[in-house]
Amino acid sequence: MFITLAPTRAMSIIARCAAAAMFLAVACAQPAPDPAGNDPNWWKSAVIYEIYPRSFADTNGDGIGDLNGITAHLDYLQNLGIDAIWITPFFPSPQVDFGYDISNYHGIDPQYGTMKDFDVLVAEAGKRHIRVIGDFVLNHTSDLHPWFIESRSSRTNPKADWYVWNNGKPNRQPPNNWLSIFGHSAWQFDTQRNQFYYHAFYKEQPDLNWHNRQVRDAMYNEMRFWMKRGMAGFRLDAVPSLFEDPQLRDAKLLDGRNEYGDVPVSREYTDNLPEVHDVLREMRLVSNEFPGRVLIGETYVPNIGELAKMYGKKNDELQLPMDMQYGMLNTLSADAFRMKLRDAENGLNGNAPLFAFDNHDNRRSWNRYGDGKHDAAIAKLIATLLLAPRGVALMYYGEELGMSNHDPKSKEDVKDPIGRIGWPKEIGRDGERTPMQWNGARNAGFSDGQTTWLPVAPNYKTVNVAAEAGDPKSMLSYYRTLIHLRKENAALREGTLKMIDEDNHNVLSFLRIGAGKTVLVSVNFTANPQTIRFEKGLKVLLSSFDGAGAGKGTLELPPFGAYVGEVQ
Ligand code: GLC
Repeated sequence: MFITLAPTRAMSIIARCAAAAMFLAVACAQPAPDPAGNDPNWWKSAVIYEIYPRSFADTNGDGIGDLNGITAHLDYLQNLGIDAIWITPFFPSPQVDFGYDISNYHGIDPQYGTMKDFDVLVAEAGKRHIRVIGDFVLNHTSDLHPWFIESRSSRTNPKADWYVWNNGKPNRQPPNNWLSIFGHSAWQFDTQRNQFYYHAFYKEQPDLNWHNRQVRDAMYNEMRFWMKRGMAGFRLDAVPSLFEDPQLRDAKLLDGRNEYGDVPVSREYTDNLPEVHDVLREMRLVSNEFPGRVLIGETYVPNIGELAKMYGKKNDELQLPMDMQYGMLNTLSADAFRMKLRDAENGLNGNAPLFAFDNHDNRRSWNRYGDGKHDAAIAKLIATLLLAPRGVALMYYGEELGMSNHDPKSKEDVKDPIGRIGWPKEIGRDGERTPMQWNGARNAGFSDGQTTWLPVAPNYKTVNVAAEAGDPKSMLSYYRTLIHLRKENAALREGTLKMIDEDNHNVLSFLRIGAGKTVLVSVNFTANPQTIRFEKGLKVLLSSFDGAGAGKGTLELPPFGAYVGEVQ
């Protein structure tokens, strides 16, 4: 049934264009061309850069980053070599979850700027061949969204069924034992309706009822709004949480206590229900209305089989569901990374995997993988694991500098509500969201304001763009060189991946083969030097250590050394 909608919509666009053309000189051949180019497959080997707009660059001195701050740094991003930016939500929001609680899907929160600023950003980014990807929060809205205000106003209003409502058990007891991902019961009693509503996250983030056709259509129109304005697609937030068991069965109790002090429960009735795929297929049809758009998914799923399903049986769901297993291994083990890479090679039906190590929800990789002694070498190893395999690489602002977590020291300092609910076991996500470190001046060049919304990390005097840009051995230079290498070298960009030396527990090695070239990638996962025997001649393209010259026969890797070289 849904398939028939596409031509109807196309026809209505043509009709609208014809009407507009009577008054305006508008070009309506294509409803919304991709502002950054015409290649519909641009994303297949892309490097995408996540920007947390509050923390990237502040141009109006209020201590909070803004859209103009992103525009001001597009040359930096172009020079780094990235293909697209994904900006976390900048839409009107009470900011309970710093933008992940949206009260209007088609506006800009004034603290981040105006619609004009957005248009300028897209146009300027397009000139630099950088696409702008939005963040679509589909599982829930803010409790201050007009839809929810209407829905909670009575049990009979037109939007009464737009959220997940239930009478609960007698004596105001919630319908079941489901827990919010952010701690405590997932049900909130509402005194206006005398009913409970479900919230997978904060109580200020009521879950939308995706069974409701009107909800779906309204949300798809919000997506169209942004794609018409030149958005190159979306990162879809919290994809697995979209549906819940309609029978509302109690979840199994698990052992112990979670960081919020609750007895944890299993999530089989609230996560990753099969209906999710119906919505993803519909969303893909919507995004297919616009050329060159991409759907990325925040897909925390338990295994590669579930991840494969996110692409769709006919490749008709997400182009890029995130592989959250690889970058979140949190252990420096050649065997573990080899296994995850093999999974991505063999388990995704040939689709491009999307790898990421850092994001706004997890401690920075510097802290998760560093050993306190070889942190810089390990960070370059991580960069190599991110950018040298086949697939799409997703970076997080400041990762390229070696930014590390700067965590709050006391509960009073915490901004992220989960840190306040769960302190001290769950300290929240402030530490990985501190301001971007542009230079060694006040506020690290992030803001001219008196204060910044989160404190700047104390290492900003040395870990910053200005200091690292001119240093060929810096983290920034390593990232930049590797990203450009990947762009220019067809084997690294889109070649196949072949594991070699597979019994080696200390060193992970693989070949990238394509366009008549072969590139060797070798990474030492230990704090000891390792020697690799390699029969063919090698020409170094990039290494994280000195002295990796041309050679034949052996390759000496220092502790945590990473090597990329062309096979002669
Ligand atoms: C996603 C976001 C996270 C947010 C949550 C609720 O996991 O990445 O930051 O808190 O969804 O919207």
